[in-house]
Amino acid sequence: MGYTTIGSKFAGIEAHTRYFVPLDENLEIWQLTVSNRRAKPARISVFASVEFCLWDAQDDATNFQRNYNIGEVEVVDGVIYHKTEYRERRNHFAFFACSEPKAGFDTARDAFLGPYRGWDNPATVAAGQLTNSIAHGWAPIGAHQVNLDLAAGETRQIVFVLGYQENPVDRKFDPPDSQTINKKTVKPVIAKYLDAKEADAAFDRLRAHWDKLLGIFQVDTPDAHTNRMVNIWNAYQCMATFNMSRSASSFESGIGRGLGFRDSNQDLLGFVHMVPARARERILDLASTQLESGGAYHQYQPLTKRGNNDIGSGFNDDPHWLILGVAAYLKETGDWSILDELAPYDNKPGTEEPLYEHLHRSFRYTLERLGPHGLPLIGRADWNDCLNLNCFSSTPGNSFQTTTNRDGKVAESVFIAGLFVHASRELAAIAGRHGHSGDATCFLTAADRMEQTIKTHGWDGEWFLRAYDSFGEKIGSKEREEGKIFIESNGFCVLAGIGLDDGRAAKALAAVREHLATKHGLVLHQPAYTRYYLHLGEISSYPPGYKENAGVFCHVNPWVMIGETRLGHGDEAYDYYLRINPSAREEISEVHRCEPYVYAQMIAGKDAPTFGEAKNSWLTGTAAWNYCAIAQWILGVRPTYDGLEIAPVIPTGWPGFTATRIFRGVAYKIAIERKGAGNRVALTVDGAPIEGNIVPPPADGRKEVSISAVLS
Ligand code: GLC
Ligand code: GLC
Repeated sequence: MGYTTIGSKFAGIEAHTRYFVPLDENLEIWQLTVSNRRAKPARISVFASVEFCLWDAQDDATNFQRNYNIGEVEVVDGVIYHKTEYRERRNHFAFFACSEPKAGFDTARDAFLGPYRGWDNPATVAAGQLTNSIAHGWAPIGAHQVNLDLAAGETRQIVFVLGYQENPVDRKFDPPDSQTINKKTVKPVIAKYLDAKEADAAFDRLRAHWDKLLGIFQVDTPDAHTNRMVNIWNAYQCMATFNMSRSASSFESGIGRGLGFRDSNQDLLGFVHMVPARARERILDLASTQLESGGAYHQYQPLTKRGNNDIGSGFNDDPHWLILGVAAYLKETGDWSILDELAPYDNKPGTEEPLYEHLHRSFRYTLERLGPHGLPLIGRADWNDCLNLNCFSSTPGNSFQTTTNRDGKVAESVFIAGLFVHASRELAAIAGRHGHSGDATCFLTAADRMEQTIKTHGWDGEWFLRAYDSFGEKIGSKEREEGKIFIESNGFCVLAGIGLDDGRAAKALAAVREHLATKHGLVLHQPAYTRYYLHLGEISSYPPGYKENAGVFCHVNPWVMIGETRLGHGDEAYDYYLRINPSAREEISEVHRCEPYVYAQMIAGKDAPTFGEAKNSWLTGTAAWNYCAIAQWILGVRPTYDGLEIAPVIPTGWPGFTATRIFRGVAYKIAIERKGAGNRVALTVDGAPIEGNIVPPPADGRKEVSISAVLS
């Protein structure tokens, strides 16, 4: 389902449509408001149409020899019911209803569109009359026609309801021995929402729901783009990525992909404050797909909640993202009970262990898979799905992610090493607070050792190396002709705090600025790969400047922003933030060519002929990471295990900002005022100065706290 054509032919007639999905209903409501702005009466026709899919996205797109023979509909009391396969094993159907008396309908696509015409220009709409066609096979659709006589100045509202309904298996048909859909279950729902007042009330409930969600963090900064993205759109996109991960969308139209393990854990970072209970459930679902080895299925199918065997495991960064997802949940909620929840491995009954043990296995997974330099083996790929160092594929159509032609005992990832350091320190913080101080020491020792290994074997002199390939050669090194410097290891190592003490972090980010910064954002590496390298895999399959081959892969830009804040560089962090902020890019829409309120996965890099053009919007890890970068690190309003930390690293030119953050049920009203050019924070909480910059939830149960912070 999902295509609409609503036309109005006459000048002086205004039409507006509001579409929404009410809370807790399998419905989409369209409210069309039509006004006659002329001085005389008008008769107009309104057409609304949808195309029904036949319930199996994959099969619908391929198996025409069967599918063009099975389509069935019913049209009863003006409601169009789509019931393909209802006669056999399905007990669900779709319906499309309209609040007004109908002047016509169509359910057969051919009849509606006419020969050689598309959805942009259906023959019936051009002729002004639908044909009351009934689909028998071919492509079932739903189209309604309403004729309205509007007095001068009159406004009318029409409601369309598009929905999905499941019937109990033993009550599918009415009468029971017929082939007619039992509509008793759905009629009250249809009647309810066709009533304009009920539709308005459903919309108001939805609006109140979003006001509440977005109200959890609201800011008023000197910059309209920041306000617009933080207060509304970035948070909204975080909800979309949480719900859909990278699965079915306009940019991935199949159904095979499911939810990514690393993706979903990262998506939590920007979502957990909105509906923590759903984050909790997601964490336990993800943990239940973890393998006993501590590794993870790279993806799982959201409906069955089972790991996806087609892609399998062996992406060696995956397990650590679970630690970061859980850490974010604990910091937001303080709900330590989640660590004691039992979750199985690979969904196998009998293997259940507390979530804490899962995290422990994530940690061990890496230590059991170290390479020749003591760095983590990369496996099939790390965060960069396309750096496939064990693949060596020369066969077209091979999956770079699942084809493995090397034993994988040599290629190592400096990125995973940085991730390991970061995740292990989080895990130590968790273990210490959860009564496992012995474990905490062990996690910290391993993190320190890995940090040393990075400094010894993961440093190229001016920046962090990216990896060692399966011949033990450096990737992301000045020794290479192409791919000399990469963003992931530099961004993440600095985010993890590596090299803050010895100047490496500052050097690395200076090198990033010199080599990777462009006016459209930070590119993934430089120089781009100009040809296919068998030993590097998919990264070199893309033309230079696109996707993982030196595109501006937006997801990783915030790691550098966060890294800059760790260095105290508010101007640099914010500069990078604005370069990819969709709202700030609206002015260059003819270059950007993407929605000006949604992060895209990628903006073409400087090596691309279409430099600056964005692609693959909506479902990208950029949403969550940018939200964290701006909210928690630049604006510096950051949940911690022990309270809300206030540590802004904002541009030197900002006089300050205000914010409201609902944290563990308490509303923190925050006012930041800049009195000097630095990032030192002096906090006053409810009028009294406090030590440090973490504000614990009030011991006396107050529900509102007022914080003023002076930056100097
Ligand atoms: C896509 C994948 C993500 C991966 C990234 C870089 O966004 O969903 O898992 O990290 O590409 O390859
Ligand atoms: C990521 C990458 C993409 C690659 C895919 C494989 O999404 O962005 O380039 O093809 O992973 O699943």
